[in-house]
Amino acid sequence: MYRVNENYLKLPGSYLFSTIAKKVAAFTAANPDESIIRLGIGDVTQPLTDPVIKALHSAVDEMACASTFRGYAPDLGYSFLRETIAQHDYAERGCRIDPDEIFVSDGAKCDSGNIQELFADDSRIAVCDPVYPVYVDSNVMAGRAGTYDPETGYWSRIIYMPCTEENGFVAELPKERPDLIYLCFPNNPTGAAIKKDQLQKWVDYACENGCVIIYDAAYEAYISEEDVPHSVYECDHARECAIEIRSFSKNAGFTGVRLGYTVVPRDLKCGEASLHDMWARRHGTKYNGAPYIIQKAGEACYTPEGQASIRGLVSYYMENASVIYNGLKDMGYTVYGAVNSPYVWLKTPGGMSSWEFFDYLLANAHVVGTPGSGFGPSGEGYFRLTAFGSHENSKAALERFAKL
Ligand SMILES: Cc1ncc(COP(=O)(O)O)c(C=O)c1O
Repeated sequence: MYRVNENYLKLPGSYLFSTIAKKVAAFTAANPDESIIRLGIGDVTQPLTDPVIKALHSAVDEMACASTFRGYAPDLGYSFLRETIAQHDYAERGCRIDPDEIFVSDGAKCDSGNIQELFADDSRIAVCDPVYPVYVDSNVMAGRAGTYDPETGYWSRIIYMPCTEENGFVAELPKERPDLIYLCFPNNPTGAAIKKDQLQKWVDYACENGCVIIYDAAYEAYISEEDVPHSVYECDHARECAIEIRSFSKNAGFTGVRLGYTVVPRDLKCGEASLHDMWARRHGTKYNGAPYIIQKAGEACYTPEGQASIRGLVSYYMENASVIYNGLKDMGYTVYGAVNSPYVWLKTPGGMSSWEFFDYLLANAHVVGTPGSGFGPSGEGYFRLTAFGSHENSKAALERFAKL
């Protein structure tokens, strides 16, 4: 009899968002006439912008003509996109990243889940707590997490770095030395951002202790404060210890279009082994490249019109963020985030647990958010609302909060 990868069987329950979907479906079945406002899942709601749509149409037309038709894309990405990214996202911020250090992909989720394959089976990983669940779950599947304690919600081999009110939701350096450190800033779910001097400490720690930082900057476009770095490579020596993951989902609304990239600098070496060459090898073996049409759409995001349109989308969502944040604050809630991030992180009132508040909010306001505990044990007692809804829904949700 064949055997399965038993690590999968260790994963507790279903994925956070499927649990939410089931609860919402049960509520809707029981209350078919109630309208629900969804501020839960971090999906965007506004359509793709004009420059992106134009680029998509014109790339589709190219596909209709033998002389401009494209087949398999280069598995590391078209150079027109890699060069544009290197220039706009890095050179213009004073970071030295070569186009061939950029690996174009179909999004940050896959890359942040797959990157662990480059590391030894017994690597110790450190994660912010709470955080985007993919980092932990992908390491559970790979057998690195040890055993799960359902009482505490902790895995025995994972090093958790609590992000709490006391530390401003920015983790402190771990007491035990990890091999891999996942950092996500601006953070999902807390909305916290890291200042440049704080991030430099992480980079120094990683260099001194032989760790790799996996820096997920999917929400980079939402940074509004001057002293918050947009890239880990703004820190000295980050090329020697950090991998960066980016997405076109949250800035340009590509959640359904799918495009992202990962930077693996050539200076990132473990003895003779080059992580860059290993990731290139992995891409070459397991991935056939993001579609030409989509990469052309990605390129269009960097033209002056594209950049202006992205700024428009980001400010649309940030308007929601401040409406939700200020509205809840005025009602007496303790709220965080919303300054460099499209997430509002609120403390559940009256000592309710995160899931109790989820149920309470769904039943009484018909608003769906995300329980903080779904992102890690230190998220217990918190709740995440996203600013990715429409203006109308964000305002309507607040009105419903006011009536609670
Ligand atoms: C921190 C973080 N990284 C990555 C992703 C996924 O991005 P993508 O749509 O590019 O896969 C998300 C999506 O919610 C996220 O919150």
